Amino acid sequence: MTSIAITSGKGGVGKTTIALNMALVLSKIGKRVVIIDADVAMANLGIMLGIDRTPVSLHNVLMGEMDIKDVVYKGPAGLFYVPSELSLQKYFKLNFSKLKEAVKKLEKDYDYVIIDCPPGLGEDAKAALESARTAIIVLTPDPSALADALKMKHVSEHSGTKNLGIIVNMITKRKSEIRAEDLETVSELKVLASIPEDPVVRDCGVKQKPLILTEPNSPAALKIREFAMKLAGIKATLPAPSKKGLLSKIIQNIKHVFKR
Ligand SMILES: Nc1ncnc2c1ncn2[C@@H]1O[C@H](COP(=O)(O)OP(=O)(O)O)[C@@H](O)[C@H]1O
Ligand SMILES: [Mg+2]
Repeated sequence: MTSIAITSGKGGVGKTTIALNMALVLSKIGKRVVIIDADVAMANLGIMLGIDRTPVSLHNVLMGEMDIKDVVYKGPAGLFYVPSELSLQKYFKLNFSKLKEAVKKLEKDYDYVIIDCPPGLGEDAKAALESARTAIIVLTPDPSALADALKMKHVSEHSGTKNLGIIVNMITKRKSEIRAEDLETVSELKVLASIPEDPVVRDCGVKQKPLILTEPNSPAALKIREFAMKLAGIKATLPAPSKKGLLSKIIQNIKHVFKR
């Protein structure tokens, strides 16, 4: 039905994390979702999913060897995914202009085609952005964020992709951080979600277990869920972030006693 490019000016801001976990939320509520690892040079999606070997991938499509539908795999929670290969040898042989046609094909079969983009303005990044109907810019709230947002907004406007807005990730609430309101004023884009810096996210990355499936009540997971549900037009009623302190244990125990 539609396609969303998750893009950014810089690497390491949380694109793959957000793309994968929002895709899982949408899949869990019954949408047909496919996520494409279009960051062909890094191929991080498979790693984050804990899937190491995929005999065919987006590389085969971009080399003109296969149809996109033949490189779609079944992932967890009903999610479908198109991996990339870690092979850099093939990278230089890829024809990125084939991506748009591939995305169009998948749009017919899925409610959401989510494209995990490479960072920056290279040929691969531009092709990934151009392949989608809509785009979301991910950034961290550091001083370069404003310039990043403006640059990516400009690029998406030129590629004919509708910009849905910004996701600010890894918020620590330090005074030096750029505030969401300022980002909105300067970029004239909406801040769609503000996700906190959350050590659980990195732990899940190391364990190769998606955040939404293993730590659904962690602060970052709750924010991603809230955003994805809103995107799907559903108002989420969210539980409070999990507190592993003494107080929460006492509350748990009390609840347990009253259940008996
Ligand atoms: N909200 C967050 N809090 C803490 N760590 C995060 C958060 N979002 C992402 N990360 C971590 O930051 C690193 C880069 O994230 P990734 O999603 O791979 O970024 P990108 O795809 O933009 O390069 C990973 O180690 C990931 O676990
Ligand atoms: Mg990535």
